Amino acid sequence: MSAPNKAYDPVRVTALAPAEVQRMLDAGLAAISGAGSFDELKEARLAHLGGRSPLVLASAEIGALPPEAKAEAGRRVGEAKRLLGEAHAGRQRELEADRDQRVLVDEVADVTLPWDRRASGARHPVAMLADRLADVFIGMGYEIAEGPEIEAEWYNFDALNFPPDHPAREMQDTFFVAGRDGAAHSGKVLRTHTSPVQIRAMLSRPLPVYVVSPGKCFRADALDATHSPVFHQIEGLAVDEGLTMADLRGAISAFVEAMFGPGLRTRLRPDFFPFTEPSADVSMECHVCRGASARGGSPCRVCKSQGWIEIAGCGMVNPRVLAACGIDADRYSGFAFGLGIERSLMIRNGLADIRDTIDGDVRFSRAFGAEA
Ligand code: DAH
Repeated sequence: MSAPNKAYDPVRVTALAPAEVQRMLDAGLAAISGAGSFDELKEARLAHLGGRSPLVLASAEIGALPPEAKAEAGRRVGEAKRLLGEAHAGRQRELEADRDQRVLVDEVADVTLPWDRRASGARHPVAMLADRLADVFIGMGYEIAEGPEIEAEWYNFDALNFPPDHPAREMQDTFFVAGRDGAAHSGKVLRTHTSPVQIRAMLSRPLPVYVVSPGKCFRADALDATHSPVFHQIEGLAVDEGLTMADLRGAISAFVEAMFGPGLRTRLRPDFFPFTEPSADVSMECHVCRGASARGGSPCRVCKSQGWIEIAGCGMVNPRVLAACGIDADRYSGFAFGLGIERSLMIRNGLADIRDTIDGDVRFSRAFGAEA
């Protein structure tokens, strides 16, 4: 900084001369109005209004002026700073407005564009039906029970009273799991039905037992319109004191009415399963013709004009099975039933080919609705 002047010395304070201040002002205004970005504007501010800008350096000289010149020079410099400050603020506002305008254009959202192009998929109809079937029994107080798909032969057959030479154990029906080191048998099979879950439930739960068990089953069948090597069943089991076949009938007709409609009759006919005694197959009155086709009405495609449709196997739990699970057959009795879920779906929804349920074509699933 210069030393204070005793006398007015225009040479030493050229920087404060009106023409010079005007020049600094003009240069600053030009830089500010020419700034095309926030960065350029910041540079212009630092260059023309910053601590080391010519104008601010010049204003530091005011103190060196003789008293009579101070006020005028101070006003001049102050006015120049004010004008530059205003210009800067104005340019700042312009740049902000520009930016806001650009954002509106660049980031515009076209709300008319389709937003739901991505296919949402659908739950598989077999899974949906399995849930609904299980729900009917859950509504009656049953619990869900589960078992493994790779099952010990003992659960799948022996405990269910299949004799060792029962044809169902043979290779054409059962997928046997090979043992370690290439041994032909591991003692495990891909379960051929959900009935082994009965055994697991009786062994692991306190009595009384009321369970349903939906799940995958496997059989060495060739795939055709009515057979699939992988399919689903739902099993039901009740073990309690004093259960009779009347309870079984009641459970089955409640189930049929819940799934197929009120007022449909059910019929039990003798059949054979090693794990139930007596055993029966369950038919329900055709939900389409309600039996009219069998009484001389017009032909019915669904029941093939039989009036009845076979839907399940059932029976009273064989006392030998109860014994295998350590249950006192003199005190407790039980009933059981099992049905194929694909088959139920085909009956319920008029499907002709089980392969539709395994093709994985989402259009098939969609026809059943896209439940989450
Ligand atoms: N497990 C039998 C099958 O796969 C179906 C069955 C029949 C299950 C009678 C049962 C039953 O619980 O009581 O063919």
